[in-house]
Amino acid sequence: MFTVRKADQLEMDVRVQMSRIFADGFSQWLGYFSKDKEQIARAFAHMFNLDQFYVAVAGDKVAGMAACSDGTSLSVKLNKKELREHLGLYKGSLAHMFLKKEFETPLANPSPTKCSIEFVGTAAEYRGQGGGSLIIGHILEAAPYREFLIEEVADTNIPAMRLYEKMGFKEYKRTTIPPKRAGKIGINHIVSLKQVK
Ligand SMILES: CC(C)(COP(=O)(O)OP(=O)(O)OC[C@H]1O[C@@H](n2cnc3c(N)ncnc32)[C@H](O)[C@@H]1OP(=O)(O)O)[C@@H](O)C(=O)NCCC(=O)NCCS
Repeated sequence: MFTVRKADQLEMDVRVQMSRIFADGFSQWLGYFSKDKEQIARAFAHMFNLDQFYVAVAGDKVAGMAACSDGTSLSVKLNKKELREHLGLYKGSLAHMFLKKEFETPLANPSPTKCSIEFVGTAAEYRGQGGGSLIIGHILEAAPYREFLIEEVADTNIPAMRLYEKMGFKEYKRTTIPPKRAGKIGINHIVSLKQVK
């Protein structure tokens, strides 16, 4: 049903579809900036460095995506002007300031044999149909690295935790969220996972 391709090697423009997956799957980061997911999708479509992304496609639809970045190049790059254009001066500027820190942090101790898997998402209508497993499996097979990291997974994100466990990732670090904040955001721990071939 799905074929996995490098996002920069497709004839069609995949940015808006990827951004819709992002808007839907990462709404916990984005709700403050707009409740309108289409507006979020338009605002962030520019940010994907397509050469870092793999996508699962079904016909002309992007069903899922994941980046694999070795730290020499980032998976995404936020543009303040684009964010301001779509979210307004105030929220666009805040989005740039806060999300840049979250999304553009380079891999600690980068190495040519190590990559960070990021921005894993499946479009809502394709979830539970094997797309996420197919992309992660493809990256583990095809990407030229020995060590694969998934650095920040919310312990309460059961679909993601199960997907990564199923694909052979093991926990190597767990950061506890202070109880007051944990109650507010519904996350108790941030889990870091890895797999070495
Ligand atoms: C996490 C996510 C990418 C999974 O993608 P998917 O394409 O639905 O995954 P798959 O269909 O390949 O499922 C793989 C495994 O994940 C687990 N899984 C998937 N959805 C699940 C759910 N709703 N509940 C429990 N486990 C689930 C299962 O173990 C499944 O394996 P199985 O079908 O053999 O039992 C998807 O739910 C998503 O986009 N979530 C929002 C964005 C997100 O949280 N990304 C991860 C950030 S770290």
